[in-house]
Amino acid sequence: MKEILKTAGLNKAFGMGENEVVAVRNASFSMVAGAFEAVMGPSGSGKSTFLHLIAGLLSPDSGSIIVEDREIAGMPDTELTLFRRRRIGLIFQDFNLIPTLTAQENIELPLLLDGTAHEHSARIAELVSLLGLNGRTSHFPEQLSGGERQRVAVARALAGSPAIVLADEPTGNLDSPAARSLCELLRKVNKELGSSILMVSHDPVVAAAADRVHILRDGHFCASFATHGSAATVSERYLAAMV
Ligand SMILES: Nc1ncnc2c1ncn2[C@@H]1O[C@H](COP(=O)(O)OP(=O)(O)O)[C@@H](O)[C@H]1O
Ligand SMILES: [Mg+2]
Repeated sequence: MKEILKTAGLNKAFGMGENEVVAVRNASFSMVAGAFEAVMGPSGSGKSTFLHLIAGLLSPDSGSIIVEDREIAGMPDTELTLFRRRRIGLIFQDFNLIPTLTAQENIELPLLLDGTAHEHSARIAELVSLLGLNGRTSHFPEQLSGGERQRVAVARALAGSPAIVLADEPTGNLDSPAARSLCELLRKVNKELGSSILMVSHDPVVAAAADRVHILRDGHFCASFATHGSAATVSERYLAAMV
């Protein structure tokens, strides 16, 4: 299978001198196209920093980040902005929807900015239906439940058929039933549409939705294992990697 994402020797520190915090340390990672994988680690282990580096929202101090055959470390800003908009789908913990736009407009926004919304109308209709958002598209975010808001954000991330979807604690602001439902939908999106998904979570139940988990400890990947869809397996392997 073709690799969709590969990082090698990735490093990122914040601050200077005695205030320096190394957030990502010699992180090497790879994932094939069509995979659904998760990154787990304690708070402060560098999960968000790692995801933001791959998304091109932060630039690394050193190392390589290849997304779909393109090196994004050191890519000029304007080129990176376009690449991110077209090839990377982002899902955040706090949904990041625009309150004055309807659900439909939020979903279409990145494509409108890119001038390609019309090319993706069939895809958007398919996503709205797959994500259970029929009848909700003319609502504004404040008229939607947390779970529905996050499903709008998932549709927005997927609308332009990105190379990879990156999700940072996507269930962090949801109650358990909505979190469970979001996990099932991410699995469905991965299996039915073949979307490549990399999700960060510290929750074993959520991470078990992915097929494989990678453990980040002090900014470095120290273990990786198949989940077999079992939260118990994830918990056990995660704790073993932490001692
Ligand atoms: N913008 C920043 N400025 C300074 N330190 C930061 C910044 N972002 C993250 N850090 C630090 O880097 C480390 C990793 O943070 P983060 O990637 O957010 O971890 P996680 O998502 O696993 O909780 C932490 O020690 C955090 O305080
Ligand atoms: Mg984080």
